[in-house]
Amino acid sequence: MKRIKSTLVSIFLVAVTTISAQQKLPIYLDATKPIEQRVENALSLMTTQEKVALCHAQSKFSSKGVARLGIPEVWMDDGPLGIREEVYWDQWNGAHWTNDSCTGFPALTCLAATFNPKMAYQFGKAIGEEARYRNKTMLLGPGVNIYRTPLNGRNFEYMGEDPFLSSQIVVPYVEGVQSNGVAACVKHFALNDQETWRGSVDVQVSDRALHEIYLPAFKAAVTQGKVWAVMGSYNQFRGQHCCENDLLLNKILKGNWKFDGVVVSDWGGVHNTDEAVNNGLDIEMGTYTNGLTTNGAFPYSDYYLADPYLKGLQDGKYSESVLNDKARRILRLIFRTTMNIHRPWGSFGTAAHAEVDRKIADQGIVLLKNEDHVLPIEPQQVKTIAVIGENATHRMTIGGGSSSLKVNQEIVPLEGLTTRFGKDFTLVHSIGYSSGKENSAEADSLRNAAIAVAKNADVVLFIGGLNKDPHQDCEGVDRLSYGLPYGQDQLIDSLTKVNKHVVVVLISGNAVAMPWVNNVQAIVQAWYLGSQAGNAIADVLSGDVNPSGKLPFSFPVKLSDCGAHSFGAIAYPGVDQKEIYKEDILVGYRWYDTKHIRPLFPFGFGLSYTSFDYSKPVANRKVYGMNDTIRVTFRLTNSGKMAGAETAQLYVSKPKSAVERPEKELKAFQKVFLQPSKTETVTLLVPVKSLAYYDETKSGWTVEPGTYNLLLASSSQDTKGEASVEVK
Ligand code: GLC
Repeated sequence: MKRIKSTLVSIFLVAVTTISAQQKLPIYLDATKPIEQRVENALSLMTTQEKVALCHAQSKFSSKGVARLGIPEVWMDDGPLGIREEVYWDQWNGAHWTNDSCTGFPALTCLAATFNPKMAYQFGKAIGEEARYRNKTMLLGPGVNIYRTPLNGRNFEYMGEDPFLSSQIVVPYVEGVQSNGVAACVKHFALNDQETWRGSVDVQVSDRALHEIYLPAFKAAVTQGKVWAVMGSYNQFRGQHCCENDLLLNKILKGNWKFDGVVVSDWGGVHNTDEAVNNGLDIEMGTYTNGLTTNGAFPYSDYYLADPYLKGLQDGKYSESVLNDKARRILRLIFRTTMNIHRPWGSFGTAAHAEVDRKIADQGIVLLKNEDHVLPIEPQQVKTIAVIGENATHRMTIGGGSSSLKVNQEIVPLEGLTTRFGKDFTLVHSIGYSSGKENSAEADSLRNAAIAVAKNADVVLFIGGLNKDPHQDCEGVDRLSYGLPYGQDQLIDSLTKVNKHVVVVLISGNAVAMPWVNNVQAIVQAWYLGSQAGNAIADVLSGDVNPSGKLPFSFPVKLSDCGAHSFGAIAYPGVDQKEIYKEDILVGYRWYDTKHIRPLFPFGFGLSYTSFDYSKPVANRKVYGMNDTIRVTFRLTNSGKMAGAETAQLYVSKPKSAVERPEKELKAFQKVFLQPSKTETVTLLVPVKSLAYYDETKSGWTVEPGTYNLLLASSSQDTKGEASVEVK
């Protein structure tokens, strides 16, 4: 009896303390309360100084929380391809931690080339797990700027030339990252489509091109992906820096799109207190630096949103309500992430993440040419394989700017090839060329040695392309020419003279000129593939994996074929820091198809080791209203001997339109996996609303009534069948 009594008493005491503790627990600390209540409660407890302190950096990659209230700091980290190593408080370079070697994931051009939103979700979830494990509040990625010119140094970090493809890939990526309680930060908002003069170039582009080409992926990330952060870009738009741009940040992002998250500046992108305060910026980072090297010797209290802001508030120059809006957004970010007690724990550098890297790489590699079925390499026909080229051993997870990584593993191509082919074949490697020594006597000896090796091989694998040296695929500087560097073209020509079985594997994040395109038997576009690069390349070259990637951007024959390079310097890179996007809405295949310029390899193109047959596409109705969805059905058959995947694409064209339109625009796609001789009925959906063009006369979208042609295609240049419908 006594025991029961004492138990009852102790239960009672626990209950009382819990309830009283519950009552004493301020709302912002009570995880059972809705976020908005916690935000308001925290805000009501904060001083003006504490609110201002939220709005600017306290170190290279962090900003303050509210220590007095137990609200944690905000920690950010690059980047879209993996979680950057810890750096010193005030330095860009690494702090030499021993437990921050991450998984290197593929570059986002590779992810886009999968044309597979499921891969995007897995990518986001895995990289988000690594960010979570490292206790990051925010991942500084993904990037969705548009591939307007093949010279842009950062194209490898983005998702290609088509706004619809970028939109379909960025949404699941963001959802994957944020499922970990880590904020994605979609960047660089907006029109940061080159690196030349990135900090100052003033971009002029029409409203129509802005809304139809350059904003859709950001809009999708915000309105569909519910992204919790957006990074302003360095450049100017119509005379205002994008980190303090009233039209982009207040009117479009926070107004029309109802973005409730945080706008972070790019590092060094803020230039003016008045504009930063009033034009929609929330957190100022990296001021007085250039986002790459200079560390600046200014105290954080000198930041535009630091003491100058506080002083302006005290002088009554700035309103408390604007400050409260910034503080609310930052508190909301914190309650969605570090103060969300239900968020998972994350994981780091795991075998599972390596598998995600390899799977995306396998699905993103694009087979561009395969004459006489030289690929896949099979032991019956081949004994000796010559592996030529510096990129066979060049580590690509390093370099390229802020996306550079310290990885736990990087299987370079030669290693992956040796693992896969080593036992059944004889592999002989010769570097062939060396970056930085292209004009030396040594270059000749390297080339001669490679030719000697190639002469006696049954097949030559030339592993070349770009690397992440400055003026190649690298942040801060654009490429200086469209061709391959380091004398690779000359070497490839020499190889084709001594061996007719030359397979060129290009590792790059950009299109390149291919003067040797008719003389080599096969061409494989292998992106920056991350930690499992060599294994993924071997997967495809051996036929263990049937390539299924499609190009997320066109490969023009020559630079002058490209829209951005058809209107003189004012269109690229600009004149006196002013640039006009004169090709307007005709970017990428929209330009080549409309101007009837044949690209070397078109957008959406990619071969397979099997073949696919399309039946005629049929629309479910003849006439549609504005709120309908067009359903196009067709049958796809794998008519070859190998399992594989085909991305069927649906382009729409509008004959006799009242406004200028591209010859065709991608409005739907689906990646379909099929066993040999199997057929699947596929349905592609096109909401009639998505046929709208941006009408500058009313600053809004207009769906034109009339006839639309639906082109079912396997690339932007290869239509398999057509159907036409009426919109009333
Ligand atoms: C860099 C880049 C941005 C990166 C940031 C932090 O300059 O432009 O993408 O996230 O600064 O490294």
